[in-house]
Amino acid sequence: MRPLLPASGDDLDDARLAARYAYPDDLAAPFVRVNFVTSTDGAVSVEGRSAGLGSPPDRRVFLLLRELADVVLVGAGTVRAEDYGGARRPTRGTDRPPPVAVVTRSADLDPAGRLFTDGRVPPIVLTLTSAPPQRRDRLAAAGADVVALERLTPDLLLAELARRGLHRVLCEGGPTLFGELVAADAVDELCLTLAPLLAGGPAGRIAVGPQGAHLHRLQLADVLHEDDVLLLRYRRAGPIG
Ligand SMILES: NC(=O)c1ccc[n+]([C@@H]2O[C@H](COP(=O)([O-])OP(=O)(O)OC[C@H]3O[C@@H](n4cnc5c(N)ncnc54)[C@H](OP(=O)(O)O)[C@@H]3O)[C@@H](O)[C@H]2O)c1
Repeated sequence: MRPLLPASGDDLDDARLAARYAYPDDLAAPFVRVNFVTSTDGAVSVEGRSAGLGSPPDRRVFLLLRELADVVLVGAGTVRAEDYGGARRPTRGTDRPPPVAVVTRSADLDPAGRLFTDGRVPPIVLTLTSAPPQRRDRLAAAGADVVALERLTPDLLLAELARRGLHRVLCEGGPTLFGELVAADAVDELCLTLAPLLAGGPAGRIAVGPQGAHLHRLQLADVLHEDDVLLLRYRRAGPIG
């Protein structure tokens, strides 16, 4: 066992920080990176939103991860709770921000929400063929690329993204979608910011899923810290990376 503190090494400039968070090269299949912030006592939100857990270092990495991604994958609960906006900065090496792909069985999203009015690229709405057609039509009319599938399992979602060449996947939650990805063993990496806060309260944790889930072993790939905020990166244990 070794102490992390006192701090070692210089402050990381943007280029060195980006190099640490680089996706594996030449991906032939989706690589799923998940990014969450939690309080030190494990709360995923404060009063229903994640903003209260934020900090400048978390924001810096949050924006960088978007710049490195081909697509931002998010559950509809997060879009509804946070009036989620699209990414603004282009994915590195391109002139377009990554689209946000929203997963929703119900297609119950507000077409006047920021996601549909604010982004520079249309969102992708991944929904079911059984979702009400009038809701799907409204989202398509608001500019979304609406994809209706027979089922919305992680495998099928990721295959749909891969079909569009979107391999560098950044999942920004929320806990229900993350829980489904965990249950399907579809998570390659977890970037976890630990905010130096005790939140108490009724908030849930970063993953929720069905009983009886298997444990998936991770290996620690990186640890950064700034102003008491801890930024952890865990990878799937095994041959990747
Ligand atoms: N701390 C953080 O980093 C962070 C990050 C993200 C979110 N959050 C917080 O998490 C809370 C939201 O939690 P949540 O669990 O409701 O979020 P969520 O996972 O974003 O949304 C759940 C919804 O996503 C859809 N969904 C998820 N998996 C699906 C699948 N496999 N197939 C079809 N639809 C699927 C369903 O939408 P429909 O109901 O439309 O069918 C489901 O109700 C908010 O308080 C938010 O602030 C925190």
